[in-house]
Formats: sequence, C-alpha cells, structure tokens
Amino acid sequence: MPGLFLTFEGGDGSGKSTQSELLTAWLTGQGRTVVHSREPGGTDFGLEVRELVLHRRGHIAPRAEALLYAADRAHNIATVVRPALERGDIVIQDRYLDSSVAYQGAGRVLDPAEVRDLSLWATGGLLPDLTVLLDIDVETGRARLDEARTRYDRLEAEAAEFHARVRQGYLDLAAAEPARFLVLDATLPVEELAEGIRARVATLL
Ligand code: TYD
Repeated sequence: MPGLFLTFEGGDGSGKSTQSELLTAWLTGQGRTVVHSREPGGTDFGLEVRELVLHRRGHIAPRAEALLYAADRAHNIATVVRPALERGDIVIQDRYLDSSVAYQGAGRVLDPAEVRDLSLWATGGLLPDLTVLLDIDVETGRARLDEARTRYDRLEAEAAEFHARVRQGYLDLAAAEPARFLVLDATLPVEELAEGIRARVATLL
C-alpha cells in the first residue's frame, strides 16, 4: 500500500489538533500505521527551533523567521515524513508549507511565492496528498484560543489584522489548488467535521 501525506491547516484556534487526532484514531482502527507529526517541533531538533521561533521575545527579521520554519521542516521531512511514506505509512501532520505561505507570506512582508519555493527547496518538493483547511474567522478563533492560552506566543500575539491576512492567504491557496485542499467551516460540530474529513480521506485509501 502506498503511503499518504495528509496535512491540517488553519488559523490559531481552528481545532486542527482535535481533528488530526480523530483522523489518526480512525485510520489506526482501519489497520493502517499512522505517524502523527507537527510543525514546528516534530523532531528533537525541531523542538529547539520551535522554542526560538515561537517563544523567544524580541524581533526576528522576517527572512530569518521564514528560514527557521524551513529548517524545522527540512529536518522533519527528511528524518520523519519521507521514511514513513517510504514504508507505506500514513503521515498526518499539523501544519506544513501552507502555514509558511499564509503566515510568513500573506501575513508578513515576504513574497508568498518565494516562501513557497523556499519550503519546496527545503523538502525536495514534497506536497501533501490532501490538505484539510479548517477555516475560521479571526474573532471566533481568538475567543477559542483565549480559553486555552497558557504561554506567550509570538504569532498569537499579533494583531487581528495579521490574522485576517493569514486567513485570506489560506483561502487563496485553497482556491489555487482545489484538488489538494478540502476546506471546511471550523465552527461546525466536531463530529460533523470528522465525518467530512473521513469521507474525503476514504477516497484516497
Ligand atoms: P502551534 O502552537 O503549533 O499551534 P496551533 O498549530 O495549534 O495554532 O503554533 C504554531 C504557530 O506557528 C502558529 O501560530 C503558526 C506558526 N507557523 C508559522 O508562522 N509558519 C509555519 O511555517 C508554521 C509551521 C507555523
């Protein structure tokens, strides 16, 4: 059986981790071997990058930030994701290159096409078989996040305007690659979302 690379994307507070866990449990129940991963921080090296890029206080130049995410990604893909796909496993990952295009490209000042090319270089051109975008408006996402917030996070601390650009960036990406994306309204009930995701993933198995 060929491996599959499935990614979850969406704004902060969109419920990606809940849905990726539910999908992981469902696929495991079908007898598939699932590797669950995330960016930033899917590897030991990545955890160190994650500390820097998410929790370090003070300015980080936008290109430096983009390179840090790309470094985390390069290592995660080379050491976790590609080996798993080569074994025929399913990889379910919270966030991938679309996060960089939406946050570092649309959200910040960098050119989205350059940010995408950087990630493609970092990963040897690996694109997901399916990307689930959990779309949520900024205020609803923020309200969910405030309930869960525990630590200072550089990106979560950005203004609502930044998050609105990120959301639009994601929707533009999905419109440009409709075959790769499944866009769902993140305010739907958890079980309804899970069912929609399972139905789409079933077509790939
Ligand atoms: P994380 O704590 O993983 O939370 P969640 O995915 O639940 O929102 O936060 C990751 C943060 O990193 C998030 O604010 C988006 C940001 N990010 C980027 O800006 N660029 C990237 O390439 C990635 C992978 C994440």
